Amino acid sequence: MKSTFSRILYGGDYNPNQWPKEIWEKDMEYFKDARINSATINVFSWAKIQPSEEEYYFDELDEIVEMLSKENYDIVLATSTGAMPAWLYKKYPEVARTDYEGRHHKFGQRHNACPNSPVFQKYAKALAEQLAKRYGDNEHVKCWHISNEYGGECYCENCEKAFRVWLKNKYGTIEAVNKAWNLEFWGHTVYDWDEIVLPNVLGDGMENGKDTAFAGLSVDYRRFMSESMLNNYKMERDVIRQYDKETPITTNLMGTYKLLDYFKWAKEMDIVSWDNYPAYNTPWSLTAMTHDLMRGLKDSPFMLMEQTPSQQNWQPYNSLKKPGQMRAQSLQTVAHGADTIQFFQLRRSVGGCEKFHGAVIGHVGTTDTRVFREVKQLGEELERLSAFTLGSVNKAEVGIVFDWDNYWALEYTSGPTQDLTYVEQIHQYYKFFYDKNISVNMIPFDADFSKYKVVVAPVLYMVKEGMKEALEKFVENGGVLITTFMSGLVDQSDNVYLGGYPGPLREMAGVWVEEIDALAPEQMNTVTFADGTEVSCNLLCDVMHLEGAECLATYATDFYAGTPAVTKNQFGKGYTYYVGTNMNGNGIAKVLDMAVAQAGVSSVIQEETELEVTCRKADDCTYYFVVNFKDKEIEVPSCFVGCTDLLTGEVAVSGKMMKKYDVMIFSMPN
Ligand code: GLA
Ligand code: ZN
Repeated sequence: MKSTFSRILYGGDYNPNQWPKEIWEKDMEYFKDARINSATINVFSWAKIQPSEEEYYFDELDEIVEMLSKENYDIVLATSTGAMPAWLYKKYPEVARTDYEGRHHKFGQRHNACPNSPVFQKYAKALAEQLAKRYGDNEHVKCWHISNEYGGECYCENCEKAFRVWLKNKYGTIEAVNKAWNLEFWGHTVYDWDEIVLPNVLGDGMENGKDTAFAGLSVDYRRFMSESMLNNYKMERDVIRQYDKETPITTNLMGTYKLLDYFKWAKEMDIVSWDNYPAYNTPWSLTAMTHDLMRGLKDSPFMLMEQTPSQQNWQPYNSLKKPGQMRAQSLQTVAHGADTIQFFQLRRSVGGCEKFHGAVIGHVGTTDTRVFREVKQLGEELERLSAFTLGSVNKAEVGIVFDWDNYWALEYTSGPTQDLTYVEQIHQYYKFFYDKNISVNMIPFDADFSKYKVVVAPVLYMVKEGMKEALEKFVENGGVLITTFMSGLVDQSDNVYLGGYPGPLREMAGVWVEEIDALAPEQMNTVTFADGTEVSCNLLCDVMHLEGAECLATYATDFYAGTPAVTKNQFGKGYTYYVGTNMNGNGIAKVLDMAVAQAGVSSVIQEETELEVTCRKADDCTYYFVVNFKDKEIEVPSCFVGCTDLLTGEVAVSGKMMKKYDVMIFSMPN
């Protein structure tokens, strides 16, 4: 596969506009020393480059672009529309958002334009156009970065009007809306489009800021908001394309961020980019999963647009990355499909809420720091790695379904428990594969399942049109499907499939779920497998009947003791495993071990190891990334003995021990 870039971009957010000229010169010298080859500029400069409605001022940006071009930097040019200038709010208060409580905001913060404000759209588009006209043919501009971290939501009158139009397009008639949201409930029937109000706390929203009286309405509003912001993105993208036909265009996503349907977004992006900010206690498996999700959006390599070289400022506890950690984390990112490693930011700012956010150059202003030395070491290594990994791709036999509609609906729904969180559920299943070094693709609900041996669809609450048929076909043809409690319950509008749970999945799972018990945090049950293994379970327990499925495990206590908790059903040439409760990791492993053996899925390497081993495939060889994230030394797997580490040139000898955060990359012919 041809890579988007001709070298691994290494750099990140750079704001020389916040600094005097002497500093710029120093920066150029320091960055070169660290092998930084790229800078992301103009992310928050709208107020600078457009001081008023009538005038643009590009002198400073011209100088920055010129300086970077002269030094042969690959420029990631942002459009600056992520933070609006104060004058725009003053003159047109509608550009601000109205929040869930119904309060209309004033100037301040960022990432907060009303996506349906025609004024915002007009000025954002005009700015993007100016930039594209001016820099569109600069050969050093290697990527366009639209706005910044789209997100949030708006409940203003412009949004309300636009929502009604969106609904009209989607449903055609008001009767269809009444039906879709089941508005007969609580006598909410509407007769005219303008009777529809937004689901904030003044309307059908609930005080917790999360649920609404009508989840169908909430989910539609989420779809609409995600699309509204995506339209903002497309508007800027399209105007840039008029002046620059080729340069890839992206915006920086935020992993499992709830409010935007990134599978839809990715279709409009030339390359996915994302910002990785794990907390001090984020499991490495969750970071790996998020990378796989970001790669999965386009099933292609992605950009790591931001990470901190050392520390953040906005987490409750902003621990330092330990020596070697940033390197290990960056190479893990490359292992999972990144073709760039970029930081926020290159120089730590002097004021503002991010003054304590890590950067390549700290407040001391010199390069004689631990952070700089680590950045430089990584820079040298990535420079070498560019010749190898660019153009290689990740492949997997296992697909895990991740679906934003499902995410929203599952978490909006009232009952049976408030403790169910989508990402956590997905992660529990992902973690099994991660621990076994089995590659996973995170896939959309409408993926081509036939590419996989195993498909895992945990808490597949909402089964949208076409999905039942696609999953049935997959299993019938020999695939192995794993699904769980809270699956097959509702259609795309959050209305229940009548006739017994898990609705459309019932036949392929061979079970009927009669009731769903919710367990409070202090309660639990036990699941006993046929071989006597016992594991604990909590959260939710399906009370179910076999309808052709085989019972693999039963509950140990409560009135449903002895009834099935986990089942397996042959359907055509394949099998469906149904996990009726939230088992601990051992329970999940027990089921997935069976599924994986049945499907003949293999790990990246045969040997069992506690190291993270990931691979990227090129045409003629495979690159193996071996990372130690454990708090102990671990021996390099014997299959790599005699291979040369691409990072250091060291040959792995038998018995070679890898310390925490050590990384080795090996290449083997296909
Ligand atoms: C986000 C933003 C950056 C910066 C970093 C700090 O990712 O995109 O502008 O605020 O967070 O971690
Ligand atoms: Zn709005």
